[in-house]
Parts: sequence; structure tokens; C-alpha cells
Amino acid sequence: MNDRTDTEPRDPAVGDQRQRFLGKTCLVTGGSRGLGLAAAQAFAREGARVVIIARDPHQLKVASGLIGDGTVTVAADISSVAGIKAALAEVAGEVDHVDAAYINAGHAGMKRLDAMDEATWDRVFDTNVKGSFFLMQGLKPLLAPGGAVVFCGSAAGRRASAGTAAYGASKAALEHLTRILAAEVVADGIRVNIVVPAGMNTDIAFRTTGLAPGGADAFRERIRLSTPMLREGEPEELADAVLFLASSEAGYITGASLVLDGGLTSFLRPTA
Ligand SMILES: NC(=O)c1ccc[n+]([C@@H]2O[C@H](COP(=O)([O-])OP(=O)(O)OC[C@H]3O[C@@H](n4cnc5c(N)ncnc54)[C@H](OP(=O)(O)O)[C@@H]3O)[C@@H](O)[C@H]2O)c1
Repeated sequence: MNDRTDTEPRDPAVGDQRQRFLGKTCLVTGGSRGLGLAAAQAFAREGARVVIIARDPHQLKVASGLIGDGTVTVAADISSVAGIKAALAEVAGEVDHVDAAYINAGHAGMKRLDAMDEATWDRVFDTNVKGSFFLMQGLKPLLAPGGAVVFCGSAAGRRASAGTAAYGASKAALEHLTRILAAEVVADGIRVNIVVPAGMNTDIAFRTTGLAPGGADAFRERIRLSTPMLREGEPEELADAVLFLASSEAGYITGASLVLDGGLTSFLRPTA
């Protein structure tokens, strides 16, 4: 296979100077690293007051320094309803409303049919599906009319591969949940959409349970070589999509999926 990259990611330093979120409050779950951190930084660059939720207090502090002054950090586990309630009570103590939420925190647990166990299945679904649903339920009273919610799916929810029973099914469920929730809040003036990434340049593979020891790098390389663009996506490219869907530029878009996968789920790279 030709290992050439045709499309270089844009230089994140050459962002535009728009202030689409000036005076707005934007919440990001999993905002302490990876895709969530990049989106939180982008919201802040465009003028938002940012709230981030994740479990590790140390990483939250590091992220807060990277996002900027005024960042609200909430340490909570969003895989249980109790954790979500505690998190949102803390959020409500800091801000009186939320204009945009990027519900991004997710867990990837890879196990094949014979090896799958209940704990892995439940952790994946509790974080990715139950957590996303009950976050939306808890957030709704805080969401301003005209507000927007963006969920984080995965191409694993569209293109099947061995070992992704729990993760892929959870992300497919989340994509459908997006449409259902969009229907439930359309009359409240709230839009709900989902980004569907694949092969992004984050460390998630090192936190993915079920990969063989040392398998994270091999896993990333396998996805990269399956991707027609032959490169990983940059977190800033995903952040661009999240901010677009969260902004008034996407004012007529709800219940939609925006795929960012270098072509992975759409076509095969021509061999010549
Ligand atoms: N990277 C990719 O290639 C890729 C591709 C497709 C989809 N995605 C999706 O993109 C999202 C972000 O992925 P990423 O690559 O940025 O992952 P990451 O680097 O591992 O970051 C995950 C973030 O979520 C937080 N988090 C995880 N479980 C949580 C929980 N139970 N409660 C609260 N916070 C939690 C983590 O912080 P703590 O650990 O401190 O809680 C961290 O801030 C996920 O939904 C993932 O499935 C990623």
C-alpha cells in the first residue's frame, strides 16, 4: 500500500479569530484530555466560559491551565446517575445556564465474543450510552433556549470489526439516541447532533481495555493504514466540527451525524 498522506491537517495555530461563543457558557465532559480538551480550548479561544468534567482531579487542573482563566473544573464519574447528579449540582452552583454542551467522555473496551464479560460490557455502555442519556436529562433544565448539545460517536458504531461488540454497539446506540433526543427537545429550541470520528491522534488506545500489551501503537497503526487519507485526524479538526455544530452557523441542523474519519466508513483508497 502506498503510505503517502495526501491531506495534511491544518496548522492549529492558524485558527480563525471568530468569537462565536463570546459571553456563552460551554460544558465539555471528558474535557481534561484528548478530543474533549481540544474542544474546550477552542470554545475558550472563541470567548466562552468553559466547564469541564472528568474523573482525575490532577489532569483537570492541568487542563484548566491549558484552557485558561475562569475554567470551571468538576471531578466526577459520569458513568453513574449518582455521579452525574453530583457533577451537575456542582455545575449549577457555578453557572446559571449552559449554552452548549459537548458530551464527549467515553470508554473503549475491546473484547471478542468468547472473552466478553459483564463488567467490560457494563463499563462501556454505562459510560457511553447511559452516561450520555442521563447527562442530557440532567442538563436540560440548565440548557438555554437556542442551546446545542453535541455527542461523540465513533466510526466503530458504523463499520464493524472483531472485538468492538460493546464499544461499536454503544456508539451505534448513541448515534440513534442523538436523533431521539433531538426529537424530544426540538420544541424547546435545543439542537442535538453528534460527531462521528475515527482514528484521532489521542492517547485513548493506551486507556482502551482489552488490547494486547503493547497493542495500542499497533492498533493505531492498523486504523491509520485502513484510512483512505492514511493519517490520523487531529483533535483540533474534531474541535472545528464540534464548534460548528454548537454554533448558530448550524442553526438549521439537528439530529444529524457529522463524520470525521478520513474516508474510513465511506470508500476504499484506490491502489493507483
Ligand atoms: N481518539 C479516537 O481515535 C476516537 C475515535 C472515535 C471516537 N472517539 C471518542 O471520542 C471521545 C474522546 O476520546 P479521546 O480519544 O479524547 O479519549 P481520552 O484521551 O481517553 O479522553 C477521555 C476523556 O474522558 C474522560 N472520561 C472517561 N471516562 C469518564 C467517566 N466515566 N467520567 C468522567 N469522565 C470520563 C477522561 O478523563 P478521566 O479519565 O480523568 O475521567 C478524559 O478526559 C470518546 O467518546 C471516544 O469514544 C475517539
